[in-house]
Amino acid sequence: MKVDLIDLKYRYLDEHKQILKSINKLLKKGNIVLTEEVKSFEDAICSYTNIKYCLGLNSGTDALMMSLWALGIKKGDEVITTPVSFIASIGAIVHIGARPVFIDVGEDFNIDPKNIETAITNKTKAIMPVHWGGRVCDMEPIIAISKKYNIPIIEDSAQGMGAYYKNSHSGVFGHVAAFSGHPLKNLGAIGDSGFIVTNNKSIYEKIKLYRNHGLISRDKTSIFGINSRMDSINAEVLSFRLKKLKSVIKNRNKNVNLYKKYINTDKVFIPSNKKYEINAYVMFLTLCEDRNGLQKYLLNNNIQSMVYYETPLHLHGASKALGYKKGDFPLAENICNKVLALPHHQYLSENHIKFVSNKINSFYKNY
Ligand SMILES: Cc1ncc(COP(=O)(O)O)c(C=O)c1O
Repeated sequence: MKVDLIDLKYRYLDEHKQILKSINKLLKKGNIVLTEEVKSFEDAICSYTNIKYCLGLNSGTDALMMSLWALGIKKGDEVITTPVSFIASIGAIVHIGARPVFIDVGEDFNIDPKNIETAITNKTKAIMPVHWGGRVCDMEPIIAISKKYNIPIIEDSAQGMGAYYKNSHSGVFGHVAAFSGHPLKNLGAIGDSGFIVTNNKSIYEKIKLYRNHGLISRDKTSIFGINSRMDSINAEVLSFRLKKLKSVIKNRNKNVNLYKKYINTDKVFIPSNKKYEINAYVMFLTLCEDRNGLQKYLLNNNIQSMVYYETPLHLHGASKALGYKKGDFPLAENICNKVLALPHHQYLSENHIKFVSNKINSFYKNY
């Protein structure tokens, strides 16, 4: 049996009729950038997440950069965030001239709110929690700190679509939130895409101008912007997939419960969920003893797995100038040393999961 890590091929087989029909319809119309389909997608996201404004953009990275920019973050400012994320989280901060300030994470792999206050200085201009793996950070204490110090929150919700915390969807807790529509996300397009959500009209209006060169009309501007427009093909695919998102998340949770049932070694740690959260499980992240050995063994048995990621953000080559060193964030570093994403997508069968789990159990048998 061969078990793939992700589902893109299967997903296309399942959905190709509707997707090709949309492409055909839109190309025949001949108008494919920032069209009414984008507006419909934005409206659908507003009702799904229960928020006032959404803007379709062309990546999650742009969504983060524009969120930072719209909040007025600039050179010399500090943004508190996590060392456990994809490099884009801090690339966005650095590119607008600010400095990422890391704090360590908790057992849920997300920033530990207890560490935030010690990192606040008079240069702190935002807190950027990242909902890593599709689990919303513990937002209540983060919001309390944000209010106490009057520091805005930008949610990096690139992986948060479909995730809930205390009955609210990810992205509605902060001043603005950035989502990715990269094909590997639960709500993924057929190319790069992203979007922001906010309840703040002024942030919405700023980003709306910024995503399209600052154009108020075809020939009128008041600021310089960039091109970060969503195209109608991705908007249609995202709208179509949004209707299926609940079932995608349900299947992903079902898979994880099956893994929990069949993996019976204490050498693999599977973080548990709180009663009040729905984890979107963009990835199924585990912590494994002898992670590299296990990964090799699984591959020899035709099972793909992936390390997300080996290097915490404070130890990346690009972060050198930030001045951090090994040992600064022990919990984050421990995660990066042990983390392994196991095969996980909505088309996996119980047999696949049983097969992978049995192989994991047999790898650790003689430990
Ligand atoms: C946590 C996080 N932030 C930001 C991004 C950037 O999103 P995009 O790839 O759509 O630019 C990603 C993408 O994987 C991500 O996982």
